[in-house]
Amino acid sequence: MTTSATHRDDHDGLGEVLVGEEAIARRVAELGAQITADYQGTSPLLVGVLKGAVLFTSDLCRAIDLPVELDFMAVSSYGSSTRTSGVVRILKDLDSDVTGRDVILVEDIVDSGLTLSYLRRTLKARRPASLEICSLLVREAQEDLDDLVKYVGFKVPPEWVVGYGLDVAQRFRNLPNIHAFDAAHAQ
Ligand code: IMP
Ligand code: MG
Repeated sequence: MTTSATHRDDHDGLGEVLVGEEAIARRVAELGAQITADYQGTSPLLVGVLKGAVLFTSDLCRAIDLPVELDFMAVSSYGSSTRTSGVVRILKDLDSDVTGRDVILVEDIVDSGLTLSYLRRTLKARRPASLEICSLLVREAQEDLDDLVKYVGFKVPPEWVVGYGLDVAQRFRNLPNIHAFDAAHAQ
């Protein structure tokens, strides 16, 4: 029996806290207020990208004071390692028809932008009334993504991060803070 709910030990690769839970809560409230103001008079469809964006989507939707609807998509751009395969596959498509809807795509992190460009293209082809992106995290060095992602939670350095929905090999999603992760510990 370990004493920690996350079964962590000194050698599991979990690094320093990059974004703490209070900072996350504050930023989620701000993003919710901004979206509420921007989408007055509409009922946007929040599309969360499984599984990483589940925690963010569920907090964000409660910070939006509008009649939002929720849907989810699952895509796979990586295997269980931290290296990109360059291939994006739809594992679960939307239940709803997005045609004519004000869609807000909710992502956990935009890293290379590959997953996002694919999702954007796929959703745009279905003719939504509007499509904006809200990502909890965006890489610091990716300035070219700034025009693409309208709502950004935090910029993070180019190292693997885990917690608050983000994983390494499905682990650490339940941590309340966002931590750096030492990739040497990944398989
Ligand atoms: P992109 O296609 O390179 O932008 O990668 C985006 C996806 O890869 C995200 O939606 C995450 O699921 C995953 N990802 C990229 N970087 C990280 C990270 O540091 N931690 C956890 N997941 C990540
Ligand atoms: Mg993802």
